Amino acid sequence: MARFILKDPYYKKAKQEGFRARSAYKLKEIEDRFHLIGKGDAILDLGCSPGSFLQVLSEIVGEKGTVIGIDILPTPALPRKNITAIQADIRETDVKGLLSQFSLSTADAITCDIAPNLSGIREVDDARIEELFACVLKVVDETLKPGGHFIIKSFSTGIQKGITTDLQKRFSKVAQYKPAASRSVSSEVFFVCMGKK
Ligand SMILES: C[S@@+](CC[C@H](N)C(=O)[O-])C[C@H]1O[C@@H](n2cnc3c(N)ncnc32)[C@H](O)[C@@H]1O
Repeated sequence: MARFILKDPYYKKAKQEGFRARSAYKLKEIEDRFHLIGKGDAILDLGCSPGSFLQVLSEIVGEKGTVIGIDILPTPALPRKNITAIQADIRETDVKGLLSQFSLSTADAITCDIAPNLSGIREVDDARIEELFACVLKVVDETLKPGGHFIIKSFSTGIQKGITTDLQKRFSKVAQYKPAASRSVSSEVFFVCMGKK
């Protein structure tokens, strides 16, 4: 397994370019393809640790933008003034109240790379994913501005169809995208949701 990681070209690239995780390239690819985030935007990043999405988002929004990350685990500090990372469980956090502490009522876009702890037991894991997804949707409903965009990583599970329907109800367009940086053996796919209704 360790050899597999060391040979991974995105892992090497992330090390060389100073990104905290290879996931940085997944978000970069999505942004290169869909162009959803702009200079000066306020972005919420759910499941942000160790911080590679935060690094990519910080570069895109620039110094007039704001990037707020939330993760149940601590995120080691990043030397960028436009990034704040908060340690919290999104299932128990009033994210709208949290945004107001930054004088924000809504986010221009939300990214979500949350990965729940999985047991390997299909029914248990589907229930965990379902619970987390419901919490994430609540955050989207309460804090994403109308017309805003949402990018979420999803895994192929029994609840995939329901997830797609929930997203299509809320957004004008929903595309599924698997970045080249996403390992081919992984069942992960990103839902790129454009234009909140
Ligand atoms: C794949 S990692 C995110 C990587 C991150 N996007 C990056 O680029 O560095 C998934 C994260 O989801 C977080 N997570 C899982 N359950 C969570 C919860 N209930 N609330 C907040 N974060 C959670 C994990 O702690 C983990 O750090």
